[in-house]
Amino acid sequence: MADKVYVDNVEATAAWNTVLFDRFSEYRHIFVTALRRFGDDALAGDPPNAGDRILDVGCGFGDTSRQLALIAGPDSHVTGIDAAERFIAAAVEEAEADAAENVAFRVADVQTEPLGGPYDYAFARMGTMFFANPVAAMRNVRKSLRPGGRLVMVVWRRKLDNEWMYRSEQVVDRHVPKPDAEASEALTCGPGPFSMANADTTGDILKAAGFDTISFRRIDIDMLVGGDPEEAVAVALALGPAAETVRLAGDDAERVRPLIERDLLALAGEYRTASGEVVAPASAWVVGARAPA
Ligand SMILES: C[S@@+](CC[C@H](N)C(=O)[O-])C[C@H]1O[C@@H](n2cnc3c(N)ncnc32)[C@H](O)[C@@H]1O
Repeated sequence: MADKVYVDNVEATAAWNTVLFDRFSEYRHIFVTALRRFGDDALAGDPPNAGDRILDVGCGFGDTSRQLALIAGPDSHVTGIDAAERFIAAAVEEAEADAAENVAFRVADVQTEPLGGPYDYAFARMGTMFFANPVAAMRNVRKSLRPGGRLVMVVWRRKLDNEWMYRSEQVVDRHVPKPDAEASEALTCGPGPFSMANADTTGDILKAAGFDTISFRRIDIDMLVGGDPEEAVAVALALGPAAETVRLAGDDAERVRPLIERDLLALAGEYRTASGEVVAPASAWVVGARAPA
């Protein structure tokens, strides 16, 4: 939310540890399926080397941490870091069930806490857009890399090219007056998912954090946003900009929820495929950078 100043990550971490964890878990089959398409593309283009020591930034459930360990092989080691304890608890449990031996997880705020290392390769799939101070956070990541170590991160491109999130936010904005994020009791996730969408700004953040050899590669996909229109509506109201407005607006949004849901259902109809699934254009950057050699 633009009208809120984030001095640290306490509120965003609390959000990821509570409401956002619950919603991400409930619709994991949608979110992670979509994110996997972007992550796989990023890893195919710029994979870690065999035996690399790897950092997975904002690792969530740790599925990319396990994937990185498989790609880099048995001599590699992956450390997945996330600020939210509940994500790390789930990641540890899933890695144990998977008998993934060369993967470890740690709770830490990437902006302020030691990250271990030195790492050869740092990866993030939608895990770097929520820092109150992105330069400090990315500098911490850069410092954890060995000289010449690589960063590969996937971040959303601009909203306009992520049609389901963009247009569902427009629907909500038509019905709900802009909430006052400072006054609302609801937890926000900091600067938010689109905070690294602008390549100029993100390039400058990385430069200020001490990275060089910065590159951007655009990935466009048709993204599944719901198994059917009703699920697409639920997804829009679970995570992302439309959901955040509804949460912050509280009763003002609840009063008009039937209207919001009606209009979102009509919107979902525009993206309904022959099989009944809802699929919309989506777009992300794969950002590459290097710690100076
Ligand atoms: C959109 S989720 C992505 C999770 C995972 N990378 C994936 O692709 O499924 C963003 C993740 O970043 C984590 N995160 C947010 N702020 C963080 C911070 N300051 N330090 C570490 N992790 C953070 C959240 O807890 C959450 O798990």
